Amino acid sequence: MTKDTATRLIHTRGRRLAQKTVNPPIERASTLLFDTSSDLYGAKPGYGRMGLAVHRELEDALCVLENATFAKLTSNGLQACALAIGSQVKAGDHILFTDSAYGPTARYLDRRLEKMGVEATRFDPRCGATISNLIKPNTRVIYLESPGSLTFEISDTPAIVDVAQQRGIRTILDNTWGAGILHKPLDLGVDISVQALTKYAVGHADVFGGAVMSRDKRVAQDIIDCGDDWGISLGPDDAYTALRGLRSLKTRMDAHEAAGLRIANWLSERPEVCQVLHPALEQHPDHVIWKRDFTGSNGLFSVILNTVSPEGLKRFFDALELFSMGFSWGGFESLIIPCDPQLKRSKGHWIDQKVGPLLRIHVGLETVDDLIADLRAGFEAMGE
Ligand SMILES: Cc1ncc(COP(=O)(O)O)c(C=O)c1O
Repeated sequence: MTKDTATRLIHTRGRRLAQKTVNPPIERASTLLFDTSSDLYGAKPGYGRMGLAVHRELEDALCVLENATFAKLTSNGLQACALAIGSQVKAGDHILFTDSAYGPTARYLDRRLEKMGVEATRFDPRCGATISNLIKPNTRVIYLESPGSLTFEISDTPAIVDVAQQRGIRTILDNTWGAGILHKPLDLGVDISVQALTKYAVGHADVFGGAVMSRDKRVAQDIIDCGDDWGISLGPDDAYTALRGLRSLKTRMDAHEAAGLRIANWLSERPEVCQVLHPALEQHPDHVIWKRDFTGSNGLFSVILNTVSPEGLKRFFDALELFSMGFSWGGFESLIIPCDPQLKRSKGHWIDQKVGPLLRIHVGLETVDDLIADLRAGFEAMGE
């Protein structure tokens, strides 16, 4: 019987069953030593940057998680996004990318790729099959992120993949929110799935990591070549920490999901809240697509408040004790941030019509009643 992903993430010792430890060794090595000159030039890995036992075991676990056959580790999530994209384009190409891509990825596409002679244009994450209208003769890649950063649109990924496959265009999806547990883009025909391991995989807000996963041999070779050319690697201690995080990913995710849903539902009843942007809520505009393509949700979502004065908003944040302000998400601690300064979207985006400020919330692993009491105290201070 095929074992469940959560079970397989705990039993990853396939390549080193002869050894007696539950976890792999951390070999801190730049230099590897060889007995003969032919070994020196023939060995893989021949140099520490290619990674050792702990890297192989993490790669294997990520392949289990994403139903992939290949995984390349990177030193953080942004580097994984940049590698996935950079491995697929060359000067003169065109790439389409979702308007709600993670900000620094969008900046890489807009700024860095332009300098490299690649044209990047945005598409509406809700465009579905009409993406075909945006395709040019030199379009090589469609880059998705679902749900979108901050605004949580869910793409009709199968419809977009269908168009891409007909035109020989490769697709990449930032799967950090889905984390492999909730969403498997490669199963939907996406060519490359990317994750910032920094978030739910690591799960403790203490280490950076990233991964680029694929099934197709030619795609994998492009990623390997580009990773080698750019000198991309992940340190052994960070690889170990990410692998350790994967052991409890499903359990933590279940807890984040349950707590996130309770708080999202509670917030949707509050008079201060105009809209909750959580794809698992029935009122979310893309709920039906989310239900079809995802197996669950986590602790990350946004809310749009009703009109509130800057002083009222300041009192709200000042009153919170458990929800801290800080970038990133996926750790054990609850976070909340005002997002308006970083909401950069195309002209005419629906977010231009929003009533009040947009806040992104990450629900951590604290007791939910305590978190609700914290938010209630914040709203009471807001209204004073
Ligand atoms: C969706 C998404 N992708 C990628 C990244 C980048 O990850 P990292 O912070 O590890 O570079 C982030 C970080 O917030 C993110 O939210």
